[in-house]
Amino acid sequence: MGKKMLEYCINVASGEIIPKAVQLNQVYFISGSEAFHFKFLCIMFSLQNKTAVVTGSGSGIGKAVAEILAKQGATVFVADVNKDNAATTVNEITAAGFAAEAVAINVVNQAEVTAAFNKIEKIDILVNCAGISHIGNAENTTEEDLDKVYNVNIKGMYNCLHAAIPMMKQTGGGAIINVSSIAAKVGLVDRFAYSMSKGAVYAMTLSVARDYLHHNIRCNCISPARVHTPFVDGFLAKNYPGKEKEMFEKLSKSQPIGRMGTPNEMGALILYLASDEASFITGSDFPIDGGFVTLNN
Ligand SMILES: NC(=O)c1ccc[n+]([C@@H]2O[C@H](COP(=O)([O-])OP(=O)(O)OC[C@H]3O[C@@H](n4cnc5c(N)ncnc54)[C@H](O)[C@@H]3O)[C@@H](O)[C@H]2O)c1
Repeated sequence: MGKKMLEYCINVASGEIIPKAVQLNQVYFISGSEAFHFKFLCIMFSLQNKTAVVTGSGSGIGKAVAEILAKQGATVFVADVNKDNAATTVNEITAAGFAAEAVAINVVNQAEVTAAFNKIEKIDILVNCAGISHIGNAENTTEEDLDKVYNVNIKGMYNCLHAAIPMMKQTGGGAIINVSSIAAKVGLVDRFAYSMSKGAVYAMTLSVARDYLHHNIRCNCISPARVHTPFVDGFLAKNYPGKEKEMFEKLSKSQPIGRMGTPNEMGALILYLASDEASFITGSDFPIDGGFVTLNN
């Protein structure tokens, strides 16, 4: 009989037969002398037929998340205030043969977020990744600084939860992953407003997980240490002009593992939490920090 291409694979967790497995970058052959002698591939973390909204996916962690979720079969809505960057993410995903659409939103604006989400047929997965940083202590953080961080990192996340949860309830459930930070758990120098906002992300995660247990909506958060993204580069350029390289090394070494994380490493954890394989996990925070919180002693 020789070799024959297999056109289906199976998700062992759900038992779902997935056509066009080639879209998932899988390679598969049937070999042997008998026509029905073949082997199914076991695919975990499939997001076939799911729709995901990823905020902040024009750049950094959110962009990697959008790419990874799309590769696993989800249709991804790339939501970002930066229209050009959102379009670039979408173009890269679609050029690779996967499904994505851009959604230009400022998460701070509730009416804008609700209107944009309501245009999407269903939301199975919401990844709240849009965020901004700020350097300062309680004395030198101005009211304006605090309001800005609050508006994007806290109110922006609330706006997305507020718009997505009713849609998830209507379709029988969903998975929400919020991006917090180690700043929510340890005292970092000069991160007053930022730490406040990431602590609130953790608290919102618990609240949503508790309130929507019986609506089959799981809500978790991840707490990264430093991840090398434009966020970090912008932070260094703004706060340590001329000393970027030196500070980059210093920040890298503050992770006991000896380097910063990568956006793809964050994306892999978020994929897991978004997938049906994580069906027993809700109300949890996942440190992803190269040992920052537990091994820095
Ligand atoms: N990079 C790190 O070291 C690190 C560590 C811990 C947590 N985080 C968190 O991860 C998330 C992403 O960080 P990143 O490093 O990828 O940053 P990034 O700056 O590379 O990307 C952030 C994205 O959010 C978008 N955004 C900002 N404000 C927005 C708004 N009002 N509405 C819609 N989109 C908006 C930006 O346009 C950008 O595309 C943030 O919440 C950040 O706090 C980052």
